[in-house]
Amino acid sequence: MFFWKHFFSAQLSRSSLVLTKTGFLLLAAGLNAVLAEDKYFEIGGELSLKPVPLSERITTITWKLNGYIVAEWIEGAGELEYFRDFRGRSDLDLITGVLVISSMRKTDEGDYTVEINNKDQSVVYSAKGIKSFRDTQVEVVVNPLTCNHLSQACNLSCIGNITDAGPVQYFWKQGEGEWKESQEDLNITNNEETQQIKTFSCNMKNPISEKESGPLDNPFIMMPKSVLGIVLRSLALLTFCCCSWFLWQKRKTLCQCKTTENEVNDI
Ligand SMILES: *[C@@H]1O[C@H](CO)[C@@H](O)[C@H](O)[C@H]1NC(C)=O
Ligand SMILES: *[C@@H]1O[C@H](CO)[C@@H](O)[C@H](O)[C@H]1NC(C)=O
Ligand SMILES: *[C@@H]1O[C@H](CO)[C@@H](O)[C@H](O)[C@H]1NC(C)=O
Repeated sequence: MFFWKHFFSAQLSRSSLVLTKTGFLLLAAGLNAVLAEDKYFEIGGELSLKPVPLSERITTITWKLNGYIVAEWIEGAGELEYFRDFRGRSDLDLITGVLVISSMRKTDEGDYTVEINNKDQSVVYSAKGIKSFRDTQVEVVVNPLTCNHLSQACNLSCIGNITDAGPVQYFWKQGEGEWKESQEDLNITNNEETQQIKTFSCNMKNPISEKESGPLDNPFIMMPKSVLGIVLRSLALLTFCCCSWFLWQKRKTLCQCKTTENEVNDI
């Protein structure tokens, strides 16, 4: 008896510890503590719901959404049954009590509860459908008017469409360094240390997905002259030299020089 009591409370405290870490809310309702957890799913994706681990063998399971039965099984009383449109896309594990529903829809949002061995489990899963960042474009942007190599400080922003994405976390990386959690905006100061950094990247994360931006060149470093710019400048210089040479040689008009120049280019 003592063993079971001890085992059970150890199980409970271990799960509450883990659950609190992952964002559970502990709602004390009289003597019964109820754990409420936000559960996020992707529209069209899967939702997996676990009962709090039990020490006894499972003989009956009832999962409900907002009080209406989703799935039910009673040992020795016929088949496992799924209800309403949960038929054909749900799977209940009779050993663990884990319920997996696929092809999740917006209408499947709500509070999921479970009764095991005719006892309410002290957990409510608040299910919410959110968008995956899979197809979202994420980028680091700066205001070029207020941020350049002469600025004292710059405000970098991690931009992406976060509508319907649920809670979002932002991570920043300097050059090839480590990802560090921060805010949507990163304020950088123009000093020697910051000037060593080549690029800045950000990563947006929600409970079901994440997306990385491309690297943004450090705005405090003056851009090297572009290859195109060098080519254009060389061409202009070459044309000027040719023109001067022909002018000097033939002492003819600028107009005729242009014709000659075209001929030179054709060769
Ligand atoms: C940084 O830039 C973003 C986007 O341009 C802007 O919304 C935000 O207010 C700025 N933050 C600060 C602290 O200026
Ligand atoms: C942002 O995402 C939402 C939800 O996916 C979509 O309805 C909206 O059109 C998007 N907005 C833009 C500006 O792309
Ligand atoms: C960024 O930080 C600098 C120095 O810490 C501060 O002077 C400046 O106001 C900050 N800018 C923004 C946009 O937060």
